[in-house]
Amino acid sequence: MELLVSHRRGRFGKARREILWALRRLGEEHPLVERTAVHGIARVRTARDARDVVRGCRRLLLDGFPFEHALKWVPVDYWCERDLEAIRRLLAEKVRGQIAPDETWGMQVEKRDWEGRRTYDLIVDLARAIDRKVDLDHPDRLVRVDVVGEQVAVSVLRPDEIFSLATVGLGPQASTSTPVIRLPPTDELGGVALAEALRRRRSVRGFSRRTLRSSDIGRLAWAAQGITDAAAGLRTAPSAGALYPLELDAVTARGVFRYQPATHTLQRRSSADVRADLARAALGQSWLADTPCVFCVAAVAERTARKYGARAQRYVQLEAGHAAQNLLLAAAALGLGGTPVGAFDDAAVAQALGLDASETPLYLVPVGWPAGARRQPD
Ligand SMILES: Cc1cc2nc3c(=O)[nH]c(=O)nc-3n(C[C@H](O)[C@H](O)[C@H](O)COP(=O)(O)O)c2cc1C
Repeated sequence: MELLVSHRRGRFGKARREILWALRRLGEEHPLVERTAVHGIARVRTARDARDVVRGCRRLLLDGFPFEHALKWVPVDYWCERDLEAIRRLLAEKVRGQIAPDETWGMQVEKRDWEGRRTYDLIVDLARAIDRKVDLDHPDRLVRVDVVGEQVAVSVLRPDEIFSLATVGLGPQASTSTPVIRLPPTDELGGVALAEALRRRRSVRGFSRRTLRSSDIGRLAWAAQGITDAAAGLRTAPSAGALYPLELDAVTARGVFRYQPATHTLQRRSSADVRADLARAALGQSWLADTPCVFCVAAVAERTARKYGARAQRYVQLEAGHAAQNLLLAAAALGLGGTPVGAFDDAAVAQALGLDASETPLYLVPVGWPAGARRQPD
C-alpha cells in the first residue's frame, strides 16, 4: 500500500524520520520512504492498509505523537503515467465503479509542475469520465489526482481518509467538506447498575417520534466502540489482536454519520435520510424507516485477516456481536430501546449507506425512545 506524504520543502530528512517513527509505532517493520520528483512530497510504501495508516496517525496524534514535519498523509489507490488519456481511462475503468450511483463526488487535482494546463480545465475534462452527481461542498467521495513528476497518483477517498495536521483537530476549523460533530464525554450511562441494564434489555420495535440527541448517539457509539485506553488504543468491545475491524455508522433523519473512536466524533458522510432504504434492505421491516437512529456495525475483515487469515470471518462476526450487545445494554441503561437486526440484504444495506467495497455490514441496531414510555429526563 502506498501514501503520499506532504512535508515542508527542504525537510525531507526530518519528515522521513518522523514517518518511519510513526509507522513503526503503528507496527510496520519495514516501511519505505522515498523522495519524489516533487519537492515537499514523499512516497511511502507500507505493508499496511493505507487507510489504516491514516486512522493510526490520528490515534497517534491523540496520544501525543509529536507530528511536526509530515503534514498530510494521502492514501494512493492507483498510479498511471502523466497523460490525459491514461488518467481519463483510469477514472472511467477503475474509479467510477467505486462511487455508488447515489453517491456524490468531488475532484481535487494537484497538477504541480505539469505545465500548459490549468487545474480548472483538467478537472472539467477529467470529470466527464465519472457520471455521478457532483457535490463540491460535501462530497461522499473525493477523487484526488496528484501529479508527481512523470506519474500520476489517483485515490478515491472518503472525507476522513486523509490525515492532515491542518484539519485533524476536527473542531470547527476542520475542512468544511467533512462536517464533524464533537460528542460530549461519556462519563455516565444513566447511572444504572449493569444487572439492571441486563434485566431491562428487551427488543423494542415501536418508537416515539422523539429524536435522539447527538449526546445520546455519542453514548451509544462509545459503548459500542469507544476508546477506553487512549495510550494503547483499546476500546469498550474486545477485538481479536486489537485490530479493530469494525466501523459504526449512525443513520438518522439528518444523514449518515460515521463514529470516529479516536476523536469521539461523528463525521457526516451523507445528508440524505436513508432509513426507508434500510427498511427495504432489511427485507421490508418497515419499522426501521420510523426508528430515530439505526446503527450499522460493518467490518473491514481484511484488517483482521492480515493476521488471522480465514479465521477472520468468524472473528469479525463475534466482534459485531460484542459491539451490538454493548450498544443495546447502554440503550437499556439510558431508557432507550433497540433491537438487533440480522435479516437484511448485505449489498442493499451497503449501497444505502455508501459503504466502501472493503466494508461488509454485519448488524443493524435500530434505537429509539420506546413508544408509550414515560419521557426520559433530559
Ligand atoms: C442474530 C440476531 C438477528 C436478529 N434479527 C432480527 C431481525 O431481523 N428483526 C427483528 O425484528 N428482530 C431480530 N432479532 C431480535 C430477536 O427477534 C429477539 O432478540 C428475540 O425475539 C428475543 O427477544 P429479546 O431480544 O427481547 O430478548 C435478532 C436477534 C439476533 C440475536
